[in-house]
Amino acid sequence: MVHTPINSMENCVQKTTIERLRVPRPGDRNEVAKTYYPPELRAAIVGTGGIARIHGQRIQDLGSRVVGVCGRDLSKAQALAAELQPAGRRGGFRRRDGIEPFADLGRMLDETGPDVLHVCSPHGFHAAHALEAIKRGIHVICEKPMTTTVEDAQRLLDASEAAGIHAAVCLTQRSYPMVAELRGRILSGEIGKLQAVRGGFLSWDSSHENWGWGFDPAIAGTSYATADLGVHWLDLVEHVTGSRISQVDARFSTLRPTRVKDGREVDVQAEDYVRVFLQLSDGTPGSAVFSGVCAGEPNACFIDVDGMDGGFHWQADDPNVLRHRRADASILTIARDPERLSADAGRIAFTPAGHAEGFGDAFRNLIRDVYAAIGGDPVAYPTFADGRRLVSVVHAIQESAQTRKAIDID
Ligand SMILES: NC(=O)c1ccc[n+]([C@@H]2O[C@H](COP(=O)([O-])OP(=O)(O)OC[C@H]3O[C@@H](n4cnc5c(N)ncnc54)[C@H](O)[C@@H]3O)[C@@H](O)[C@H]2O)c1
Repeated sequence: MVHTPINSMENCVQKTTIERLRVPRPGDRNEVAKTYYPPELRAAIVGTGGIARIHGQRIQDLGSRVVGVCGRDLSKAQALAAELQPAGRRGGFRRRDGIEPFADLGRMLDETGPDVLHVCSPHGFHAAHALEAIKRGIHVICEKPMTTTVEDAQRLLDASEAAGIHAAVCLTQRSYPMVAELRGRILSGEIGKLQAVRGGFLSWDSSHENWGWGFDPAIAGTSYATADLGVHWLDLVEHVTGSRISQVDARFSTLRPTRVKDGREVDVQAEDYVRVFLQLSDGTPGSAVFSGVCAGEPNACFIDVDGMDGGFHWQADDPNVLRHRRADASILTIARDPERLSADAGRIAFTPAGHAEGFGDAFRNLIRDVYAAIGGDPVAYPTFADGRRLVSVVHAIQESAQTRKAIDID
């Protein structure tokens, strides 16, 4: 069955559905429980690894359907399709209502005609995979980093704008309620004029000696710790301060210069440890560390923002609290309580205070906002313009490390 590609928001979702499932606007706090579900869309996924599974589960949590899964080899696509198969439909891949596995992306898009493609493949394939959807007028949600080169990022941005589709990048830190709360409090001046930002992203994903695709420049690009890990922090600092990173001065190390691939030691070129000084467009100085070799730190993305009158601390592995350091030396812990948060944060907080929300919820929030926007609601989400900007910040950090000089960013 060949579906007509969907290329306008008008025919993407039935109007009645959009109205019934309207996403709340700031201030509509009581609407939250009634409007959990965005419009029901038909989604396809390319990539069959860890993050593809999270996307698939969240799409289904939101009441939408996964119609196709595409992998490099069919058996992996079949395995993920079987895992995501809704109860009652397991045991076979029925064309009409099941999740079909594919090894060819173009075929999947033509045969299943999805409303949206989730690009969950390794970084180096994002551009080609997203373009397959864009040229068919299909909306895209692309994993980070958006691309491995600035040229590809610009090409994707231009193509998505020309196609008039919704194009989002998974800068998921923004979708935690306490990050929305942090942004609101900083922008309202609660800690006064900003003095400095600090933080980083520490991981031990690659502490072991094994080689992974993240070290293959043909698949992951030439940067590891900055493009894969740091990109989350770089977006976070711009998002919560409302300022742009205008200058970077970085140094790279490759602390594990060889790794074991198929039983043989191979050289690694990409950086696994980064220290960077930066300056924001309002003059605020900052510093960060990105590490893929930090034993005992599974995924520590953390930020401190210092102002004249106090400071805030947030970290992704304890995401339900925001710490407020105050000028009188007291430290206030602000808990995620949907009833007490700002409207922007409360809009994406669902479980009652004390019942933790986390990584999967942030993913759901991001997908929910993009789907709502596809349905016609004026909901903000991280766009391809944001993705392109971050690719150029990553590129500037690489250039700075290579030249050992500070690099200005437009
Ligand atoms: N937004 C987030 O918080 C977040 C978190 C994790 C990963 N990601 C991103 O998601 C993407 C996928 O990461 P993952 O964690 O799912 O990785 P993974 O290693 O779990 O899966 C990668 C997938 O790519 C496939 N693959 C590996 N080598 C390939 C090759 N040479 N050619 C084609 N396919 C190949 C694998 O078979 C697998 O299906 C990456 O771009 C990553 O940055 C984002």
